[in-house]
Amino acid sequence: MALFKKKEINLPPPQHIAIIMDGNGRWAKKRGLPRTAGHGAGAEAFRRTANYCRTLGVKYLTVYAFSTENWKRSEEEVSGIMKLLGKYLEEALADMEKNHVRFRFFGDLSRLSPELQTLCQNAQERSSEYDEVQVNFCLNYGGRDEIVKAAKSFAREVAEGKRKPEELTEQLFDNYLYSAGVPDPELIIRPSGEMRTSNFLLWQSAYSEYVFMDVLWPDFSPKDLDAAIAEYHRRNRRFGGV
Ligand code: IPE
Ligand code: IPE
Ligand code: MG
Repeated sequence: MALFKKKEINLPPPQHIAIIMDGNGRWAKKRGLPRTAGHGAGAEAFRRTANYCRTLGVKYLTVYAFSTENWKRSEEEVSGIMKLLGKYLEEALADMEKNHVRFRFFGDLSRLSPELQTLCQNAQERSSEYDEVQVNFCLNYGGRDEIVKAAKSFAREVAEGKRKPEELTEQLFDNYLYSAGVPDPELIIRPSGEMRTSNFLLWQSAYSEYVFMDVLWPDFSPKDLDAAIAEYHRRNRRFGGV
């Protein structure tokens, strides 16, 4: 048993881990704090987890920060989240150069404030040459929205005579997604106890291993990531074979 455990620890981590950063509101409620306090603690958990992924040698980390459905929340909560994102991104821009982290944003950024859009663009452009770790930040992201946008882009190219409908394959379709060029995540972690995708990476998760955990996102620690990776290594991935 001890030997088995040792072997688990030595196994390389997946090259792409995706996380649905859920449970901030419940974390705050448990402490009698406003929901925005939970989002602040969630931002810290993200920083901690991204650093740990870098230490482990994870190449891609994709995080779900705000969904196309999250606009349904109160104006107060949404503006609190946007403010935090602005603050976080400004700090991330400063850190990025030091840590050689590449940032990409998946989602429809046009609905964000002009200031936030500029921060996202700056982060994306200024880090585009880094290739050690890549963080894909899903902001105003929806898996269905992503697929519809990809279909529209392809249809537009067909209408312009640049493509033929018969040319479309699963591989080519990948190029029209926000995640173009990024391999599919091997592991998707959802903390907070909820067991659903909530519109996250619908196309890319076809063969991802899901690990659902009871911990609330602001409490998520390197130990939890280790546990999720160990669980991933215990899975038997068959991809439809035997
Ligand atoms: C995730 O935490 C953050 C966002 C969706 C923006 P929640 O705010 O959904 O936290 P719970 O699920 O209400 O606890
Ligand atoms: C998913 O969490 C979105 C993010 C974590 C950004 P939600 O809290 O919005 O999902 P539901 O409402 O529980 O499905
Ligand atoms: Mg939630």
